[in-house]
Amino acid sequence: MKAQELREKYLDFFKSNKSKKHTIIPSASLIPENDPTVLFTTAGMHPLVPYLMGEKHPEGNKLTSVQKCIRTGDIDEVGDKTHLTFFEMMGNWSLGDYGKREAIEMSYEFLTQALKLDKDRLAVSVFAGDDDAPFDSESYEIWKELGIPEARIAKLGKKENWWGPAGKTGPCGPDTEMFYWTGGVNEIPESFNDDNDFWVEIWNDVFMIYNKTADGKYVELDQKNVDTGMGLERTLMVLNDLRDVYRCEHIWPVIKKIEELSGREYGDMKITMRVIADHIRAAVMIMGDPMGIAPSNTDQGYVVRRLIRNAIRRGKHLGIDDNFVPKLAGLVIDLMGEQYEEVIANRKFILSNLETEENKFEKTLEKGLKEFEKISNSDITGDEAFSLFATYGFPVEMTQELARVKRLDVDLEGFKEKFKKHQDLSRTAAAGKFKGGLADDSENTKKLHTAAHLMLVALKKVLGDQVEQRGSNINPERLRFDFAHPEKLTPEQLTEVERIVNEQIQNKLPIVCQEMSLDEARESGAAGIFNDKYGNKVKVYTMGGFSKEICGGPHAENTEELGVFKIIKEQSSSSGVRRIKAILK
Ligand code: SER
Repeated sequence: MKAQELREKYLDFFKSNKSKKHTIIPSASLIPENDPTVLFTTAGMHPLVPYLMGEKHPEGNKLTSVQKCIRTGDIDEVGDKTHLTFFEMMGNWSLGDYGKREAIEMSYEFLTQALKLDKDRLAVSVFAGDDDAPFDSESYEIWKELGIPEARIAKLGKKENWWGPAGKTGPCGPDTEMFYWTGGVNEIPESFNDDNDFWVEIWNDVFMIYNKTADGKYVELDQKNVDTGMGLERTLMVLNDLRDVYRCEHIWPVIKKIEELSGREYGDMKITMRVIADHIRAAVMIMGDPMGIAPSNTDQGYVVRRLIRNAIRRGKHLGIDDNFVPKLAGLVIDLMGEQYEEVIANRKFILSNLETEENKFEKTLEKGLKEFEKISNSDITGDEAFSLFATYGFPVEMTQELARVKRLDVDLEGFKEKFKKHQDLSRTAAAGKFKGGLADDSENTKKLHTAAHLMLVALKKVLGDQVEQRGSNINPERLRFDFAHPEKLTPEQLTEVERIVNEQIQNKLPIVCQEMSLDEARESGAAGIFNDKYGNKVKVYTMGGFSKEICGGPHAENTEELGVFKIIKEQSSSSGVRRIKAILK
């Protein structure tokens, strides 16, 4: 089965389910909006957090999607048979509608009837119970009733069978995971043992019935949800009897191209080729996202830089000629463009950034590797790691990887200290910001979110209508807002933006939220550039006659709640993109 067929089969199964018709919603951006603590969308539930917490979703309470995901936490595992930095997650959600029985029965029906997978090669796990929540006997019994032998139903603890919250707080709960035996029919073990990697996890049904609070308590949610996630690439792997996810038809041509460019064989250089293919795919998808992130030294841009540079270094190891990255990227764009038009629309942006990045890195890579050889007869100090970063452009994770091969340590703390001191870039990968975490919806965050809407209109008034939002990141302390604009703003322009926003705060504009179809929203003149983020029905927030934007919310009720708006910084974010940080006093 091909990727596109599987995506359609999944969505169609849940859309046309007789008693549980789901609404198909499009993939959200890879860059979470208004979320200060997480860099990427890591699961299909991520964009749905407010709705899992009880807010009403405009498309109803049964949803299904294929979501683009990035998991940087898995980068160290990339190179094995089943982990990818970028992957697609098919999912179905019950927002307080159906419960465990229906969710499990639908999963089982999809696996065994729609996909016709062999039920004798299935195993599952359920939550064993602990002080926070009881043993999930209900799921255990349902699986038994469906015919899964008890020896194939593992009872496991929180580490394995509890999902979420994605950050410190938020929706979470016990889950039941489904595994498929990929080691051939003859050797299939009687009982399930999750240490054996021939058992490949393909699907996870999470019962999001708890909210983890800031003080670490698990409080039952009023709304009992189901959140499921099925890995597209892993499912293709088991359906097509492939030995690893890289052999899926929409990834394999990249491996073949690496073979061709290097003159080496996949069989001999599997890990290196997998890492190159994985990293280029992930970099292309992040750069090609509607939020279009270019390589840089901060946040998502730093991840892109790290992926590209690591791929280049691995390419060298295979003896590939210069400038191979755009060649592989072009192929990825063709392969992924069928499902994600945005990568085609952003082809030029992706390829030109890759070329620039490769040229930049090429200039120093060889010298940097020589330098590394010189210093690597003992553990790498923070100063040395920083010098490799500052002089030769080595992301610290790359230095760590080079050091690992030689069984050396890198003084990461020392590196971070230097890094902070010299560049004031504390909010980077090195600061350990890659793990999950979701935005709160505190009063301050809501107010700053409202201020961001006012500021977008103010920027358009001051700089011209061409100003487009490229991203925002809001926490209770400040808002950060990226927008396309070619040059630095003058002090006068900044003062004028502040003045306009404050004027609208003083005008005490009421904030109204309306649900409508995307077409109606566009006709009404609502702004909103993240087209792919929305389902057919959207929320439109209107602030008096001043601002009208498609947005998921939440917002303040009246602009008068905002106090005084102040811009504290204006700087470059990446080429052609400016960044403003602002607060409310
Ligand atoms: N959130 C769960 C996961 O990522 C199910 O979608 O596995």
